[in-house]
Amino acid sequence: MFSERVKCIDISGIRKMFEAAGPGAINMGLGQPDFDTPEHIKKAAIDAINEGFTGYTMNLGIPELRQAICNKFDKDNHFEVSPDGVIVTAGASEALHLALQSLLDAGDEVLVPDPGFVSYPVLTGITGGKAVGIPLGEKLTVTPEAVNELVTPKTKAIIVNSPSNPTGAVQSKEEIRGLAEIADDRNITIISDEVYEHFIYKGEHASPAQFSDNVITINAVSKTYAMTGWRIGYAAASKEYIEQMLKVHQYIQACACSISQKAALAAIEGPQDCVGEMRESFRKRRDILMEGLHGMGIKCVTPEGAFYAFPEVSDDDAPGKLLENGVIVAPGTAFGRNGAGHIRLSYATSEDNIRKALGIIEKVLV
Ligand SMILES: Cc1ncc(COP(=O)(O)O)c(C=O)c1O
Repeated sequence: MFSERVKCIDISGIRKMFEAAGPGAINMGLGQPDFDTPEHIKKAAIDAINEGFTGYTMNLGIPELRQAICNKFDKDNHFEVSPDGVIVTAGASEALHLALQSLLDAGDEVLVPDPGFVSYPVLTGITGGKAVGIPLGEKLTVTPEAVNELVTPKTKAIIVNSPSNPTGAVQSKEEIRGLAEIADDRNITIISDEVYEHFIYKGEHASPAQFSDNVITINAVSKTYAMTGWRIGYAAASKEYIEQMLKVHQYIQACACSISQKAALAAIEGPQDCVGEMRESFRKRRDILMEGLHGMGIKCVTPEGAFYAFPEVSDDDAPGKLLENGVIVAPGTAFGRNGAGHIRLSYATSEDNIRKALGIIEKVLV
């Protein structure tokens, strides 16, 4: 009765851990900041409601938000895009879906980092394509060399995610430039998922769109401003891409939530101190976590961004054992075949929780 494409989707490995957790467990499985949305952003949403800004908006998103997004790309990411090259979506998730849906025909291949964000292979499959995992290099980044080996005439897109979920790795500018060159030489689109760009502790964020026009840049207010529940993301690309994505968006979503769009405008145009404060607390927590893990002899590449660490574990049942002892983590295999032998720890939780969890990890795994 049901479609083969949908029947074969497994319930997320992360969700299974949440469901099995007892009350009071320390949650290091979370994929969102543990902060509240800043007050000035909430106020913009309340004002929008009070002013009756509650109807459909333009399909692409309200013009002032799209202009603010263009200004943001110019200022933070050093590339130019016009407002008709921007579409506002229901989170980065919808933007990823639209990008893949507009690019893929049945059997087309998409190169995805392995390990990488859980949605990439699933959305590729739903939209008819085939995900091909890119093994990561020593620093857990996607290297141009690894991509070159995998490109075939069927390759339509490469997904890049820096900083990365689940590894916290940050792609170097040279790597990004190399990937952009492959995209140009082979006429492949890079889908660049930059939702963690503001959480970088070492080095600098580089956007492929600085180097190539064959790029759909995806971002969201979700992580940057602690707004995961508001469901606002966006994609930027040349107008030809956005026109195709808009066709799908207008029938499945019509527009992003009007109230949340006003909140996103306040977030992007307003004071940015809240972002710096979150980044500093994530950096402190990362340092506590890494000192603890390295101190007990657990191997883990120090994450340079996002709020995840991806340590090596030899016990296949590490997530199950940690769960029994009150710590929720995500199994590495949830992020792809090459995630085996790892767990993902999210440090979007209090310093106190991180210290307690480290004690349990030492007891259970070392
Ligand atoms: C790498 C990455 N991309 C996209 C998303 C989805 O973001 P949104 O909540 O804006 O849909 C997530 C959420 O965890 C993520 O980790």
